[in-house]
Amino acid sequence: MPVEPLASSSAEIDFDHTDREFMQNPYEMFQTLREQCPVARSTKFDGFWVLSRYDDLIAAARDPQTFSSAAGVTIPDFGSPVPMVPIEADPPMHMAFRKLLQREFTRSRMAAFEEAIAALTDELIDKFVEKGSVDLAVELCSPLPSIVIAQLLGFPSDDWNFFRGYTEQLLETAKSGDLEANIGAALEFCTYLANALDDRRREPRDDMLTRVVEAEIGERPITEDEALGLTLLTVVAGHETTVGGISSMLLHVARTPGLKERLIADPALIPKAVEEALRVEAPIQGIARTLTKDVCLHGQQMREGDKVWLLWAAGNRDPGQFPEPESFDVDRKSNRHLGFGDGIHRCVGAPLAQLEMRIVMEKILARMPDYHVEDGGEVVFSGGQNRMVASLPVVWDPARAS
Ligand code: HEM
Repeated sequence: MPVEPLASSSAEIDFDHTDREFMQNPYEMFQTLREQCPVARSTKFDGFWVLSRYDDLIAAARDPQTFSSAAGVTIPDFGSPVPMVPIEADPPMHMAFRKLLQREFTRSRMAAFEEAIAALTDELIDKFVEKGSVDLAVELCSPLPSIVIAQLLGFPSDDWNFFRGYTEQLLETAKSGDLEANIGAALEFCTYLANALDDRRREPRDDMLTRVVEAEIGERPITEDEALGLTLLTVVAGHETTVGGISSMLLHVARTPGLKERLIADPALIPKAVEEALRVEAPIQGIARTLTKDVCLHGQQMREGDKVWLLWAAGNRDPGQFPEPESFDVDRKSNRHLGFGDGIHRCVGAPLAQLEMRIVMEKILARMPDYHVEDGGEVVFSGGQNRMVASLPVVWDPARAS
């Protein structure tokens, strides 16, 4: 993976977001792209364009007629056996599915979950708080969003580990580009979800799965495939993304001198730390679109049918939008980051993700106020479309813990 400056005449690069080694620190290359080659052409995965400047990303995200999501939003192809709505839908159908989810994830509905999420977070922390050291990525960041999403949909909480296993497997095979393996993994998980949806058709309950099977899309009932695709998306979109948000936030807060003390003294700053984490380490690094017509941008001719990678993570560090973009700064006057995307597909689960991230930060600071990254401990990021800290070894003084 070359990180040398690009020849200004050439748009061709060897960019591969699934390369774990490269993804340990991809930001130097993102800077080179923004400065020298804002419309680059990756030679990987049969070729795709990469947009990296903030203004170009906003313009593309707000033009779904040209930058379509209907042919899938992952590179390589995720290989879902059913359309993942609404993320893989264009207008006008997109809104009918999105509305269904919007009702589920309003801020007021999420507020009703606050106590339950706080209790779950405490339960997980109870298991290690007296030890003085733990891999936070493994023991807290990874399980919490799975348990929350399982409960929110109406699955038994005990199924969370099974949930996590499947989504991790799905995202892992997605990175490999082995479509057959991915469809196999997706089919297994879809069978489990489809059984639960069938169960709600026979015996409705007061849960989200029941509301999904009973939903109307325009004037007609939702189809079985649509209900399955929407449920699959909620699990996949709501899990590893939130793991990424929580783990990156805990890492940056630990590493930024004096920040823990400021957040403890003034908890009103915690939501700002949440947003700053989503800016500095976009949990979804990039997302794909497919062109519905030829587009010429910054002198590069892109053709109808070409894949385009909207590199949110590069836009989030664009100095034209964010002064001193590399620093983690909770005092930013304006933080209109692209961590949740932009335009009609902007993350519908954002209120839940922000709530989980805030609660975890509050609990960690209250219970392990001096937590810090272990000296010599190896912090490892995942590779792939989703960015998260896969290993986050931290230590603290158990005598100060509660
Ligand atoms: C920190 C956590 C999260 C991040 C960083 C994140 C990021 C994103 C991004 C960047 C998009 C835009 C996709 C696009 O442009 O095609 C998106 C869409 C979406 N997200 Fe999230 N997400 C997070 C958490 C969640 C959660 C918790 C849920 C639900 C449980 C969720 C459900 C969705 C759905 C359904 C969409 C598609 C919306 C549409 O197409 O209208 N996300 N998310």
